[in-house]
Amino acid sequence: MELTNQVVVVTGGASGIGRALCEKFAAAGAKVVVVDLQAERAKQVAASIGGISLAADVGVEADIQAVVAATEAQLGPIDVFVSNAGVSFGDAPGWMASSAPNEHWMASWNVNVMAHVFAARALVPGMIKRGGGYLVNVASGASLLCQIGDAAYSTTKTAAVGFAESLAITHGADNIKVSVVCPLYVDTAMTAGGRGVSGNDRVISAEEAADAVLAGMAEEIFMIMPHPELSSYARRKGEDYDRWLQGMRQLRSSMLEQHPDYAYKV
Ligand SMILES: NC(=O)c1ccc[n+]([C@@H]2O[C@H](COP(=O)([O-])OP(=O)(O)OC[C@H]3O[C@@H](n4cnc5c(N)ncnc54)[C@H](O)[C@@H]3O)[C@@H](O)[C@H]2O)c1
Repeated sequence: MELTNQVVVVTGGASGIGRALCEKFAAAGAKVVVVDLQAERAKQVAASIGGISLAADVGVEADIQAVVAATEAQLGPIDVFVSNAGVSFGDAPGWMASSAPNEHWMASWNVNVMAHVFAARALVPGMIKRGGGYLVNVASGASLLCQIGDAAYSTTKTAAVGFAESLAITHGADNIKVSVVCPLYVDTAMTAGGRGVSGNDRVISAEEAADAVLAGMAEEIFMIMPHPELSSYARRKGEDYDRWLQGMRQLRSSMLEQHPDYAYKV
């Protein structure tokens, strides 16, 4: 799609992939709105790209509604909304799949899933009236493959893909484009110091991830994989689920050998 003069909102735009997306959209000529909980950092990003910033907690529906209203008042209707903000907390203590506290589960649901629902609810009726729009939802490789050591992240990122599928199927005839972005590991604050990084997967930069998003949007691809190898991993999982689970168990065991302190105790 052509981005010149398009109004593009990016949540989680103060850091990492979101920041790189804001920079790439601005370089492509879009009018960019940088949304983040971190108001001061969002303001700095906006200033550096000639955009505007809005402070919001995307897990709160009223905040998403306020972002849409403020953007429309300042720049006009939103053409592209990128729900990029995400959170990961890790299983705790140790790595028992149900061990994360309810606050972490609920924050994961609200930010990783409900923020996408809130954005669609606020935007889709107007997009239908205007003849279309573009929703980009950042999920994760964990949506397709599971993040060892983070059940809440894996569960909610999988749900995010499910919601994007529903959006794309329901509103395809309304000319609403939907992309869901599933990176493996990206070098950002979320993975700082190798946090959560498992196996031998390569870590790409936030700029590479953002380039893949814009390239995927140019072709209006639903499933954007900044690491193309994810496609064959996911295919192999689909071919033989039990073989895949066995491999993931082995990977988990080898990770615990390196970090015995992560093992749960009962
Ligand atoms: N880094 C990776 O390896 C990786 C891999 C796959 C998917 N992702 C996903 O990419 C997205 C961006 O993550 P990142 O790696 O750039 O991390 P990051 O921590 O650098 O950036 C996340 C941004 O989201 C903001 N944010 C968090 N909660 C928010 C909320 N409730 N309201 C508004 N803003 C909020 C943070 O302040 C931060 O600026 C996330 O959805 C993440 O799950 C990351």
